[in-house]
Amino acid sequence: MQRLREIEDNSINTIFADPPYFLSNGGISVQSGKQVCVDKGDWDKGGTPEYIYEFNRQWLSLCRSKLKDDGTIWISGTHHNIHVVMRCLHELGYKVLNTITWQKTDPPPNLSCKYFNFSTELIIWARKHEKKTHKFNYETMKQLNGGTQMTDVWRIPAVGRWEKNQGKHPTQKTLRLLYRIILASTNEGDTILDPFSGSGTTGIAANLLGRKYIGIEQDKTFCELSLSRRAALEDPEERKQLYNKMRENPQETTVLVNHMREADRVIAMQTGITYLRAGDSKGSLLVKPGFEKLGHICLHTSGDKPELFKLAKSGFQIWTPDALQKLGFSAENAPYYAVLRFDPSKSVQFDQQIDLHQRKYTTVAHIAPLSDFISIK
Ligand SMILES: C[S@@+](CC[C@H](N)C(=O)[O-])C[C@H]1O[C@@H](n2cnc3c(N)ncnc32)[C@H](O)[C@@H]1O
Repeated sequence: MQRLREIEDNSINTIFADPPYFLSNGGISVQSGKQVCVDKGDWDKGGTPEYIYEFNRQWLSLCRSKLKDDGTIWISGTHHNIHVVMRCLHELGYKVLNTITWQKTDPPPNLSCKYFNFSTELIIWARKHEKKTHKFNYETMKQLNGGTQMTDVWRIPAVGRWEKNQGKHPTQKTLRLLYRIILASTNEGDTILDPFSGSGTTGIAANLLGRKYIGIEQDKTFCELSLSRRAALEDPEERKQLYNKMRENPQETTVLVNHMREADRVIAMQTGITYLRAGDSKGSLLVKPGFEKLGHICLHTSGDKPELFKLAKSGFQIWTPDALQKLGFSAENAPYYAVLRFDPSKSVQFDQQIDLHQRKYTTVAHIAPLSDFISIK
């Protein structure tokens, strides 16, 4: 707490805090197919309810004095600590803005099979003052959500191997979560504080996004890990890769929505081949960056019977109309066709009903189509 006290009052724009959840009580889980103990370290063992309350109240009180008047704080937790944190926030005069549910899309299985699988963490977002307003980059969040209002349920995978190149921390957060938090509540040049910085995830995301960062961590090994993560950012290639990965939304699937005549659709379903006009004088197919990410094709006939299929191979082949006609397709308007292959026996189930005109769980393959097909807009 001493380091926290030393920070200048009213100087911080946003705080992200991932405090001890106090859940290290000998439980078990699975990692890489092996049974492992979930204990995180002595710092997570906790103590009496009075100790846990005092601990949380103390650091939350100090954090409040460090925040600027329009500043906000984000605190992560589970049922183990979140109720105490919420109580302290109310007592100290913060105003709670949201409780975000972070739904991990890849939770490890629950070995005991005695209750539902844990797949969520909660993140409370609160501002310093009850009455004074706070910073929220609403439009940026909307854009990130494909043009619709972002909700308080965030589907983001747990920390990945790609972010553990320099070593790992037992409770490392994913950069993708911090990316969203930082973009939502700060602007370039703002200062972010993390009072339980661990491996420095908040600092790495802050640096990649042009924000200033102050991190506090009691464990020397974790401080060293943070420093090597920071040092790795000096390599421009490493920096670029990390930045791109952090921005990626793994829930997004690039889908091409392909309108086919009914007769052609029947053949497509028999052969696993679908085609688009290419090389037309009107420039039917304009392949731009992003096309290489195309992973699925959605076939439909005038908006009816939409079905999604995973592409069997990435990329496409260029065929003449003759080659297509030999299979029975009625290709006739263009000198060349782009042929994509898919597995017709495996239609893909999405967890949301697809809407051909809504950009949800999809991104546009950057293709400028004419009359033969439409793309999701
Ligand atoms: C949940 S972890 C944070 C992990 C971090 N978000 C990351 O992505 O790596 C909490 C960290 O707080 C540290 N910690 C616990 N009590 C502390 C205290 N009183 N002062 C400073 N650090 C503390 C622990 O050593 C641990 O690394």
